[in-house]
Amino acid sequence: MKFGHLALFVFLLHLGLSAIEPVTATTKNPADYLSFDYYLKTCPDAEGIIQQKVGAWIQKDFTLAPSLIRLHFHDCAVRGCDASILLNFKGSERASYVSSTLRGFQVIDEIKAALEKRCPRTVSCADILTAAARDATVFAGGPFWQVPFGRKDGRISIDKEAERVPQGHENVTTLINYFKTIGLDILDLVTLSGAHTIGRASCSTFLNRVYNFNGTKRPDPSLNTSYLNLLKRRCRRTTDLVYLDVITPRTFDTVYYTNLQKKVGLLTTDQELHSDQRTSPFVEAMASQPFLFQNQFLVSMVKLGNVQVLTRNGGEVRMNCNYVNHR
Ligand code: HEM
Ligand SMILES: *[C@@H]1O[C@H](CO)[C@@H](O)[C@H](O)[C@H]1NC(C)=O
Ligand SMILES: *[C@@H]1O[C@H](CO)[C@@H](O)[C@H](O)[C@H]1NC(C)=O
Ligand SMILES: *[C@@H]1O[C@H](CO)[C@@H](O)[C@H](O)[C@H]1NC(C)=O
Repeated sequence: MKFGHLALFVFLLHLGLSAIEPVTATTKNPADYLSFDYYLKTCPDAEGIIQQKVGAWIQKDFTLAPSLIRLHFHDCAVRGCDASILLNFKGSERASYVSSTLRGFQVIDEIKAALEKRCPRTVSCADILTAAARDATVFAGGPFWQVPFGRKDGRISIDKEAERVPQGHENVTTLINYFKTIGLDILDLVTLSGAHTIGRASCSTFLNRVYNFNGTKRPDPSLNTSYLNLLKRRCRRTTDLVYLDVITPRTFDTVYYTNLQKKVGLLTTDQELHSDQRTSPFVEAMASQPFLFQNQFLVSMVKLGNVQVLTRNGGEVRMNCNYVNHR
């Protein structure tokens, strides 16, 4: 058992390291145009200002940490990390009913306003959101990683497309396939789901597991009985919020994974990562090796932040994250 875990660990670490090695392919991916020193000359204080603002908001309201991480995921999950989720008009992703529980927009707006003062028309909203998600992770006790910059902001945002993001009731095949479409693999799926070690979910996203699983009028058999009773008490209304990690809801740790072993995963999509053969080895590895989780989380977050990025002339630097610039 021990050796099995060690072997898997070494294997995963190798994968992780090779993912951040420089790419020497002849055809460039858009992400190859991102760089760590992108704002070094044009806005050297950008990263510091973002970190300072994110820290101040989270100190006032810790719940913004998970919300910013989720906001970044929902941005990258649709049309790539192009800040399309921030566009605020009729018919945009943000206006979709599936986006109604997204939060943290005002944090990004405040950062953007400060950066427009310091270095006008320079730092994209997509880069701000990516760095804010990293900083939120660190403030919550997660790993630090360097964010490559140079993303441009998109001009397109379509409400229907927001429905592509998994909602919590999908099967593992659907999750794997969806992650594949954005260039992420099964290890990324299991690792990034570990973000559910902090934050909350509305009762509406899992209530079927409590009262009527799969049309059976019975609870989900893969739900721990004492946890089931707790959820019944916590959900008076469908809009009530419940911690995704019932044991350590504000700590960025591996308890999310040990919860799955005890059948106290909140969402269907959380719990089934433990029962499906394709994902369960990774759940077991994360549950027993906090160091592995922290390391792989940063590797997978860099990958997430590079999904279908717009660079150079592929997009613009918005002046206000809520609206595209006028031509
Ligand atoms: C694997 C597929 C995923 C599914 C099905 C899923 C589903 C959900 C759902 C249903 C919620 C609660 C939303 C609500 O109350 O309306 C949620 C919250 C959250 N998700 Fe995910 N998620 C997934 C992946 C991710 C990823 C990749 C990340 C980030 C890396 C992430 C980070 C979060 C965070 C931090 C929260 C808490 C938000 C808050 O407290 O405001 N999720 N997720
Ligand atoms: C998973 O869900 C999809 C979409 O709802 C469905 O078509 C597919 O049959 C399901 N697969 C399994 C293995 O249950
Ligand atoms: C859900 O119900 C359908 C039809 O009764 C059944 O075929 C399927 O196996 C059930 N799925 C699960 C996950 O229990
Ligand atoms: C249910 O949860 C309790 C408390 O976390 C745990 O001790 C128990 O082993 C769990 N039961 C199952 C069947 O996993």
